[in-house]
Amino acid sequence: MTTSYLAAVCTDLTGPSSVEILEQQTVPLRSGEVRIQIHAAGLNFPDLLMTQGKYQFRPDPPFVPGMEAAGEVIEVAPDVESFRPGDRVMAGGKGGALAEQWIVKEAAVSPLPAALSFREGACWQTAASTAWHALVERGHLQPAESVLILGASGGVGMAAVKMARHIGATVIGTGSNEEKRDAIRQAGADHVLDPADKDLAAKIKALTDGKGVDVVFDPVGGDLALTGTRAIVWNGRYLIVGFASGAIPSFPANHVMIKTYSLIGVRAGESPRRDPELARRQSAALRELAAAGVMQPYISHSIPLNETIKALTVLEQRKAIGRVVIEMKTSS
Ligand SMILES: NC(=O)c1ccc[n+]([C@@H]2O[C@H](COP(=O)([O-])OP(=O)(O)OC[C@H]3O[C@@H](n4cnc5c(N)ncnc54)[C@H](OP(=O)(O)O)[C@@H]3O)[C@@H](O)[C@H]2O)c1
Repeated sequence: MTTSYLAAVCTDLTGPSSVEILEQQTVPLRSGEVRIQIHAAGLNFPDLLMTQGKYQFRPDPPFVPGMEAAGEVIEVAPDVESFRPGDRVMAGGKGGALAEQWIVKEAAVSPLPAALSFREGACWQTAASTAWHALVERGHLQPAESVLILGASGGVGMAAVKMARHIGATVIGTGSNEEKRDAIRQAGADHVLDPADKDLAAKIKALTDGKGVDVVFDPVGGDLALTGTRAIVWNGRYLIVGFASGAIPSFPANHVMIKTYSLIGVRAGESPRRDPELARRQSAALRELAAAGVMQPYISHSIPLNETIKALTVLEQRKAIGRVVIEMKTSS
């Protein structure tokens, strides 16, 4: 095994340009740890926010961003039972994935299903678990219902389109340009609209017999969130997933009361950490969905590790469709 490897290191909190590719020394494994030779890592919006010091989890520089990756196990601690060198796996964590090697706890590793390539496995877990947790666990979306997915061309948005489609609901997605709208259609949305359309709420109502959608999935926030509440049905469920627009909306309490809709917070990672039974349920559901190829990611950009700045800039400039993946030299 090599004694050093390359990693994308955030050396300041000034955004993507503060990332440098630096050599790191390997360290011995501790109890319960697995060392993975990473083939590909998936970029997520929080990776960008972390380089700007704007994410809820705020590590001090220098740190290696990256929350998920796929690759091969190259070493396990003596007490690790479920994996051995050579296993193809995917893994998640709070940072460290934008590197040729990653040390993670055994519990954070899962087998890479045959249905997913390394690149797909690298960007499957976060988006898929968010979509499942929001729509199934928090939103209780039903086959006969309708759902509005804002930011539907993004990582979690596109997974949500595919999950909602799998459930059998009627899916309305928003995308800010024609290329994004095409991709959302191909992902399975029944209707696709422009989030900047002045008549967005009216058009959504027209698509739902004047009633409005049963569920809104919102990873965008800002003014679009308030438009979303105007397009929701009486007694609807509004899923607060994230704030990719950079603006946290304030929902008027009188409107929530008048239309009796529910505002529902979504924490796809934290909720299962606090509830072991949910953790088991969520992992089992995701294992089945992964094996069946549901929520197969659409990857618009595959970029080598030494161009991580470019990859983060794609997210910053809102140019990604589906997922952006960082590929290591070892990738296949
Ligand atoms: N609650 C949870 O458990 C959880 C889990 C994972 C992620 N998240 C959150 O979900 C959000 C989306 O994450 P993601 O990985 O899907 O991000 P992403 O791939 O960058 O997608 C975000 C989408 O939001 C839309 N958008 C609107 N205004 C934007 C702006 N000013 N800048 C960038 N995008 C903008 C874009 O679509 P258009 O251009 O078509 O508008 C874009 O496709 C983030 O806030 C993330 O932190 C939450």
